[in-house]
Amino acid sequence: MTSPPLLIVVLAAGQGTRMKSATPKVLHKIAGRSMLGHVLAVSRDLGAAAVEVVIGPGMDAVRAEVEKEAPGAGVWVQAAQQGTADALLAAREAMGRHSGDVLVLYADTPLLTAETLRALLQRLDNGAGVAVLGFEPADPAGYGRLLTDASGWLSAIREEKDASPAEREIRLCNSGVMAFRLDDLLGVLGAIGNNNAKGEYYLTDAVEIAGAKGAKAGVVACAEDEVLGVNSRDQLAAAEAIFQARARLSVMREGATLIAPETVWLAWDTRIGRDVTIEPNVFFGTGVTVEDGVQIKANCHIEKAHIGTGAIVGPFARLRPGADLKANVHVGNFVEVKNATLGEGTKANHLSYLGDGSVGAGSNIGAGTIFCNYDGFNKARTELGVGVFIGSNSSLVAPVKIGDGAYIGSGSVITKDVAADALALERSPQQERPGWAAKFRTMMSRRKAKAG
Ligand code: UD1
Ligand code: MG
Repeated sequence: MTSPPLLIVVLAAGQGTRMKSATPKVLHKIAGRSMLGHVLAVSRDLGAAAVEVVIGPGMDAVRAEVEKEAPGAGVWVQAAQQGTADALLAAREAMGRHSGDVLVLYADTPLLTAETLRALLQRLDNGAGVAVLGFEPADPAGYGRLLTDASGWLSAIREEKDASPAEREIRLCNSGVMAFRLDDLLGVLGAIGNNNAKGEYYLTDAVEIAGAKGAKAGVVACAEDEVLGVNSRDQLAAAEAIFQARARLSVMREGATLIAPETVWLAWDTRIGRDVTIEPNVFFGTGVTVEDGVQIKANCHIEKAHIGTGAIVGPFARLRPGADLKANVHVGNFVEVKNATLGEGTKANHLSYLGDGSVGAGSNIGAGTIFCNYDGFNKARTELGVGVFIGSNSSLVAPVKIGDGAYIGSGSVITKDVAADALALERSPQQERPGWAAKFRTMMSRRKAKAG
């Protein structure tokens, strides 16, 4: 049986007061992507005919996030936060012109997988008019409870604040994810009242109202770690931990070695190749690609960077946005690379800042080399050719170009371009006075003896 077209409505209008934040709750991030972004990504994976997002008044940042993460999604404003049923009705117009299934997702439930949602939607193919994703949390506090009849159909969802002591004993809880295949969904939503502990219009009441009209409600159960609802910072950290555990497992299954996986932080979009070894305490920000055979030694911070095949990075290296390491590059301890390309086989092994520039293949950047890229007003580029040798403790004052095969003597401050194969040296000639140190010591010890 082919399922009818799917409309997904993501509810994101809640204030999120429990986060105690100036940022709307759904923009708080997990693995570098907003919770809303995660929910929109799973919505895209489901191949919905349309995605609609309900936001609160004045939530311009949330609107912008929708435009970034799901261009083409509809945005609806819920005028006042009067509950989840009221929120869904903000997208009334979109639901009115849609004929097919409606799936409601909460933007504060970011760990859902497409597989689980497909199983939920299948429940609609198997005779349910309403399908609810349920789970048995270790701690059910705060969740709505699922009331089922003898044959397992759902008879009602009771919010905790409205539940009797007996109902609170029920372990099966509402994840908030609900799917509808009803001829008159808008009629059902319109019939929901607000006679409850919070005085809100609860979407969960749709189960009883649709039931009274003859629609059966089914439950599909899933694991708690998919439906953790984030209302507070501690739950945000718990969701992050679950995401990280999944992401580490996935890179290991794809052929990377993580010596201490629990100390490696991945972003939602980190791409790691095969036979990559990652030592303990490595942080990946967003936008990082690591090719095959790379070694990342302990304690590195890497964001928006590309690391080519066979490269060795760290320990204690920092790759900032725009760092592009070609194959077999070595970047060692206390080296910072920003907006710079290092050509194949180039080495920068110690204590350097390489910002806004390019280095050709096979070059050697000595310890303490600095690309002086900023004069307090503007940034400029440092461009090095192929096979360049930069002696230790050199400052290259941008804009400056060093030709192929050139040598820079240690300790130089280079302010002018250097021709290919030349030696550039910028330091005072060395002086030497034979015997000076011995005389100096004798003189000083005599003086001290007299004074004492
Ligand atoms: C809700 C469910 C509860 C479930 C829990 C799972 C209801 C009545 N309760 O409770 O059964 O166990 O989620 O996490 O649905 N929102 C709006 N407008 C509003 C209110 C909420 O858009 O007026 C959005 C929020 O942004 C959020 C979602 O709806 O994304 C859920 O709201 P929240 O206040 O977190 O509901 P819970 O108390 O967690
Ligand atoms: Mg919630």
